[in-house]
Amino acid sequence: MYRHKKGAGGFRLHKKRDRRQGNNDVTKKTTPAVSAKNVEMQFGGFKAVKDASFELENGRFLTILGPSGSGKTTLLRMIAGFLTPTAGEIYINGEAVRAVAPNKRSIGMVFQKLALFPHMTAAENVAFPLKMRRFDARTIPDRVAEYLKLVRLEGFENRRINQLSGGQQQRVAIARALVFGPDLLLLDEPLAALDRKLREEMQLEFRRIQKELGVTTINVTHDQREALVVSDQIIVMNDGEIQQDAAPSTMYRIPNNPFVANFIGVTNAFQGTLARHEDGVAVAKFGAVEMRGVPGGKGNAAAGAPVKGAVRAEQIRIAATKAELGGLDALFEGTVSDVIFEGERLLYEVSVPALGAQPIRIFHHDQDDFASHAAGSTVHIGWKSRDLHIFVAR
Ligand SMILES: Nc1ncnc2c1ncn2[C@@H]1O[C@H](COP(=O)(O)OP(=O)(O)O)[C@@H](O)[C@H]1O
Ligand SMILES: [Mg+2]
Repeated sequence: MYRHKKGAGGFRLHKKRDRRQGNNDVTKKTTPAVSAKNVEMQFGGFKAVKDASFELENGRFLTILGPSGSGKTTLLRMIAGFLTPTAGEIYINGEAVRAVAPNKRSIGMVFQKLALFPHMTAAENVAFPLKMRRFDARTIPDRVAEYLKLVRLEGFENRRINQLSGGQQQRVAIARALVFGPDLLLLDEPLAALDRKLREEMQLEFRRIQKELGVTTINVTHDQREALVVSDQIIVMNDGEIQQDAAPSTMYRIPNNPFVANFIGVTNAFQGTLARHEDGVAVAKFGAVEMRGVPGGKGNAAAGAPVKGAVRAEQIRIAATKAELGGLDALFEGTVSDVIFEGERLLYEVSVPALGAQPIRIFHHDQDDFASHAAGSTVHIGWKSRDLHIFVAR
């Protein structure tokens, strides 16, 4: 109703109206902060995003995770209103993004290119959006100080951007994105260019700041670890399609399909055929061996349908003798083809003829039993049925 109004006043009025309604109308309370309904983005004949739907609750941290080219940035740009979907609709607080003029949108953003003003100080950079939005000049210094404190840059107020480290510049960019109190924070791989240690530190900082302010956040990354660490909710994308939308622990424990299983963590996959379903358990044949596992995804495929078995590297145990692997449901003999030292763990690659040509990768953490299986030695491996996912091939 107020969308045609010009200037900042119209926007403020609009927000007030929303809040009033929220108090009177129970259904308003459940309006998601962000929702996408069957959203598509087509460039020429190419669909970069296909039929994407999701909802994000107010105050939550969502990560859009996927490989390069999977459509993450395109989806984020539609949420920001920079691109208009070729089908479907995106809503922020119940209102279609395309119906709100760009200068009325209350969105903070941090991208890989921070786009700070290099010759201005940290404080001047953070003050900039407040000046643009015509905040009362007398309130600006306090507000800038408050947000620089939030990002732990007290004492750096008067440093110019080009006198700050990469991590400090990140912090200025976060403060600048949040200082005007946006409804929504959008992050597009802002940490991708940082070295690993700094990136991991900043991931935890993003999480802390987001929790402190309670600002609804959508983060884009191709880093599965980052997604697991920072998010309340993860959307995995591949080829423009949402593969799964779930909490991090669910995404990790109950992947929808082999793509998700393989993209998050290190997962071994082998081809087989479905034998039967037995009260909630799938039974499949891999080579000559019948194995029980968790049926993945949906579908009541018929016996004989091709399936993919998937088991994570950390859910496989390795030992010199079969007797040491008591309590496991699937046992195989193999030969160690490689041992890779990764610091806190070893990665064993074990050739198991019964499971095909691809060596099986196994993480081993036991510090007392480090590197006891040399390359070339015969070993036994095994896992529990509950750790094997059996997906019907698509
Ligand atoms: N403006 C555009 N015109 C044509 N193709 C585009 C455009 N923007 C993105 N694409 C294509 O859409 C796909 C998804 O791109 P993008 O959303 O940037 O992926 P991601 O952020 O996951 O790496 C890619 O194949 C990319 O080349
Ligand atoms: Mg991108």
